[in-house]
Amino acid sequence: MIDSFYNSIFGEIKKVSPEELRDSCFSTAREFADFLRTSLGPQSMQKVMVSSGGMYTATSDGKAILQRFDLAEFKAKHPVARLMVELAKTQDYEMGDGTTSTVILACELLKGAEKLSRAGLHPNVIASGYMMAMEKAMHLIDTIAVRLEGVEMLRNIARTSLCTKYSTYENAGLENVVSEAVECITDDSRVNGTRADPKNVHIFKRMGGDAVETGLYRGFILGKGVMHPNMPREKKNVKIAVIDVPLTLKRYDGVFGDKTDYAVAVNSMEEAFDMKKQERIMLDGAAGKILGAGAEVIISRKSIDEGLAQRLASKGIMVVHQVPTREDLEGVARAVGAKIVSDLQNMKPEFLGSVKRIKEWKYEHRTLVVIEGSGEVQSVSILIRGGTHQMATESYKAVYDAVSTTCSAVNSGLVLPGGGATEMFLAAELRKYAIGVPSKKQLGVVAFADALESIPRALSDNAGMDTMLTLMQLRERHSKGSHNTGLNSITRRITDTMKEGIVEPLLTKKLILKGANETARTVIESDDIIYGDVLQHRIDEELKQLGESAATE
Ligand SMILES: Nc1ncnc2c1ncn2[C@@H]1O[C@H](COP(=O)(O)OP(=O)(O)O)[C@@H](O)[C@H]1O
Ligand SMILES: [Mg+2]
Repeated sequence: MIDSFYNSIFGEIKKVSPEELRDSCFSTAREFADFLRTSLGPQSMQKVMVSSGGMYTATSDGKAILQRFDLAEFKAKHPVARLMVELAKTQDYEMGDGTTSTVILACELLKGAEKLSRAGLHPNVIASGYMMAMEKAMHLIDTIAVRLEGVEMLRNIARTSLCTKYSTYENAGLENVVSEAVECITDDSRVNGTRADPKNVHIFKRMGGDAVETGLYRGFILGKGVMHPNMPREKKNVKIAVIDVPLTLKRYDGVFGDKTDYAVAVNSMEEAFDMKKQERIMLDGAAGKILGAGAEVIISRKSIDEGLAQRLASKGIMVVHQVPTREDLEGVARAVGAKIVSDLQNMKPEFLGSVKRIKEWKYEHRTLVVIEGSGEVQSVSILIRGGTHQMATESYKAVYDAVSTTCSAVNSGLVLPGGGATEMFLAAELRKYAIGVPSKKQLGVVAFADALESIPRALSDNAGMDTMLTLMQLRERHSKGSHNTGLNSITRRITDTMKEGIVEPLLTKKLILKGANETARTVIESDDIIYGDVLQHRIDEELKQLGESAATE
């Protein structure tokens, strides 16, 4: 089906009928759901991904799988596949976790819509039914949310997220590291808004060692050493400048810009010396702006001249240059409360940050720098170890998800039972609610409930449980009001998941539902497809003109 659709778009035939479009969308959704469902939960299967160069990686991380899908030549060209990739990206951007769940749910909603559509229900009625169910679910979900209290609960949230990627043994150390990290960066003085920002937890990965050797360090770890041997290796309670501007005249990284060659003809040694002197005056002038503002430490994304470094060293200034990435630079700036400066002429004392302690650290064969800011909110680093590059990367993804999820729980202050319990509760309540809906939308509400059950179904399948029996038992327990009943994939038992510490943040779950519903509705409500960037360009132009005329009115 997808092949014919693909051919019809990119091959000879240019137009597809609404039926063909809908069929191809539904079949892509079906394939996607089947493809991804085995990657959900603690006992999930891995996907082996082989790059064109023959490198292979294995992962069960939904986001990583879909990222690869984004690059794939063939199926990814289908608009539904692209929508799913976008959905995963949004979920990851907003919450950092729940990517697999939201895509599975969106695809299951489309599968439900396919059945209803074949039975003759108009797409708009299905979409309205889904919307009704969604609104009801948002109210219902609040009724079972529980206040997040105590460190144990934080640990449970971290464990629930981590155990989808790790065995229980490896998980044990990591859940403590993650929950402690989030505790450190939580600003309790903030009642509303972001109390815990995952950006303040810097995850730093290194090859070598074992994943269980992962540790927590106060401060920001930078993968670079101090620039010059004569510079101090440690400083305490000083001002720090974070800059993104080169302090060198070198060809590739200097003030002449990237890859700009320059040549100057000189007629005598005096002229050459004079030029060197001018260079020195220029660089010292630029550095003087930083020192004048009061900085004793300089962290720069770009290069700093060797000669200048020597002069700075003699003044007791500590410099770390060529910081690996812009994100690292932003992380340092956040940790010390500095503003990144890209124009030294505008350097002001208020742009500087404060450090409690900055120290060079020899770690195995590497030289690192740990920066501890002296702001209210701590910045912490989690150092991830992994025997191979792939293991370190997998650990990084798992810890990233767990940190984001734990922060999300702190920010909403509310958590839900995991292991499919919340989905079973919502499905049961929505079916009751559907009976009172006096229109065909009722069928949409029921289909929404069915789609929700796909999450416990996938968890049970992946754990090798008897899924039909599991679902019947779950339904029976929920009909008696036992809304925390879900399944524990590790013990393969039906249980009170809240009591067993399988918990998830309310915010993440709400976004999973919203994102899935919106994506499914976008597809259901479409009946034609128009290709071409030219058209988009024209739409943009028209919108711009409209905006301009509205502004002049
Ligand atoms: N011990 C457990 N038993 C059963 N389900 C679990 C357990 N731990 C986590 N889960 C469930 O796994 C799902 C998340 O799986 P995961 O692979 O991380 O996907 P996602 O990308 O959606 O976060 C959630 O529904 C969560 O409740
Ligand atoms: Mg997860």
